Amino acid sequence: MKIIRATDYYDMSRKAANIISAQVIMKPNCVLGLATGGTPVGTYKQLVEWYNKGDLDFSEVTTVNLDEYRGLPREHPESYWSFMHKNLFDLVNIRPEAIHLPDGTNMDSAAECAHYDEIIRQLGGVDLQLLGIGHDGHIGFNEPGAAFELGTHCVSLTEETIEANKRFFDGDVNQVPKQAYTMGIKTIMQARKVLMVANGTGKADIVKKAFFGPVTPEVPASILQMHPDFTLVLDAEAAARLD
Ligand code: PGA
Repeated sequence: MKIIRATDYYDMSRKAANIISAQVIMKPNCVLGLATGGTPVGTYKQLVEWYNKGDLDFSEVTTVNLDEYRGLPREHPESYWSFMHKNLFDLVNIRPEAIHLPDGTNMDSAAECAHYDEIIRQLGGVDLQLLGIGHDGHIGFNEPGAAFELGTHCVSLTEETIEANKRFFDGDVNQVPKQAYTMGIKTIMQARKVLMVANGTGKADIVKKAFFGPVTPEVPASILQMHPDFTLVLDAEAAARLD
């Protein structure tokens, strides 16, 4: 595990974007595993800035996103499909057919999850997986207690995650979808490189617990301690409990 300390959110975003850029430059036809959430927004912004300067080219890149809400159509403004298009895909030269997210409108969970795993398999796996971390240590929608050996599967969101996500649904928990399709921890661990971004005081406790505590399904992110190429980029606030 490699820890990179950044001063603030902007610096964290820039450092993470640097690692993703290096991947794209070294292997232009790489497979990027991407994440949604508030944390990676600055990373995507930086990538778009470098693309606009002509320093980055996404024309051969393929992407697979971590997760999608079950039951939410792509066009819904809070779908992860919409999030990714707004923050990255519509702003760079990625080919639409090279973009993959689980299809939230396929209500046949088993079929959708098997199909998504097959897409990843056919792509030859993920070269670099970007992750955020939930306050409870979740990665993707793998909540505490999730089995480490699962591939893509359907999960029921915890109360804490529904509560954390209601800010995107007019503050109304009833509007937040209650289930999602997510890559499993096995899928994430199979990525050749994993890059996590975390910022803010709200993440300080979980960062310490996940990466300096025992590896346990109760803290899903803790398994990343065992990943052979895992980089954690933290701002000073998220790193505060490590000193
Ligand atoms: P956040 O979410 O980036 O919005 O804090 C992180 C996560 O839940 O993975």
